[in-house]
Amino acid sequence: MFGFNKSKPIVGLDIGSSAVKAVELKPSGKGYRVVAFAIEPIPPDSIVDGAVIDGTAVADAIRRLFENTAFKSKDVAASLSGNAVIVKKINLPVMTEADLGESIVWEAEQYIPFDVQDVNLDYQILDAGTGENAKGTMDVLLVAAKKEKIADYTGVIARAGRTPVVVDVDAFALQNAYEVNYGIEPGAVIVLLNAGASAINVNIVSGDQSLFTRDISIGGNAYTEAVQKELNLPFDAAEQLKKGLPVDGVTFHDVQPVLHAMTENVLLEVQKTFDFFKATAASDRIDRIVLSGGASRVDGFAQALQERFGSAVVSFDPFRTVSFDPAKFGVTDPENIMATAAVAVGLALRRVGDR
Ligand SMILES: Nc1ncnc2c1ncn2[C@@H]1O[C@H](COP(=O)(O)OP(=O)(O)OP(=O)(O)O)[C@@H](O)[C@H]1O
Ligand SMILES: [Mg+2]
Repeated sequence: MFGFNKSKPIVGLDIGSSAVKAVELKPSGKGYRVVAFAIEPIPPDSIVDGAVIDGTAVADAIRRLFENTAFKSKDVAASLSGNAVIVKKINLPVMTEADLGESIVWEAEQYIPFDVQDVNLDYQILDAGTGENAKGTMDVLLVAAKKEKIADYTGVIARAGRTPVVVDVDAFALQNAYEVNYGIEPGAVIVLLNAGASAINVNIVSGDQSLFTRDISIGGNAYTEAVQKELNLPFDAAEQLKKGLPVDGVTFHDVQPVLHAMTENVLLEVQKTFDFFKATAASDRIDRIVLSGGASRVDGFAQALQERFGSAVVSFDPFRTVSFDPAKFGVTDPENIMATAAVAVGLALRRVGDR
């Protein structure tokens, strides 16, 4: 999305609301190898609902992250999510790519709730409508991102001394990382579900196509806040307990019912998303749910999903084929890194000029 036309390796930088993660890859054999990896926390409330509130805090975190000298490239691919982006599948009369390029702005006006002047547009032809069973129309994936939000993100990257060259969408970066690690499975309907601190990115894919995307605005913070409230604890203590680490006078056993109750709320939102998908997309089947994001590790979450939806639930391993040696990067809990690195890996796979 929204890239310029050059071709060299770039750093995938996932600016999450709880932490920034960066990955740099190098082609190796038939695949890739991680040559640099770093993660750096962001103070709470620096990014709220996908909007950069405290640019200085975010730029500082990015700057600290790049003190790691293993990063060789200054060029960065970042991503947006939440209400900063709109992704819509639209149906148009069959036309040439050149005609589509010219008319897309006009077409977009009918589908996006913002002034087209205020957004950057991109699109991908999903079905050119020229195949054997051509129906006279073509399917196009339209992506619109608010210029103001793009500027927020590219701004903090520039303030940290790096060059933003690609601005992608979390849900697509996730898909990119998935394809590289798991390949493309024609016909299967797979839900990529990335549960972060403030949002859950959902991308339902079939083969190499995205059938449906949505960002649900609930995530790990909701769990921490519930624990804070129920047990009258400060943020840091609640955050620890949530991850199963004991805190003075409180056991994990005390916390579990609070977590499980919040999972019920989260499942309701996921259910709504799946219902909406089934009502609007061509498929009503879900074969597998692939989990990533730190909040997907909440006690009992994967099991609750499996029980509710009856689909197989597996953990997304962004290093399944991308070779990564945790010890080399001072990583002591590879499981945690595995859960949170998927978007950054997907971004690192981007080449400048890609979309
Ligand atoms: N072991 C664990 N158990 C429960 N929650 C965890 C665990 N590890 C991390 N988390 C939670 O995961 C969240 C961070 O995950 P992640 O890094 O994917 O989010 P983010 O990208 O910063 O957020 P977002 O994408 O929503 O802006 C935090 O809420 C954190 O408390
Ligand atoms: Mg995230």
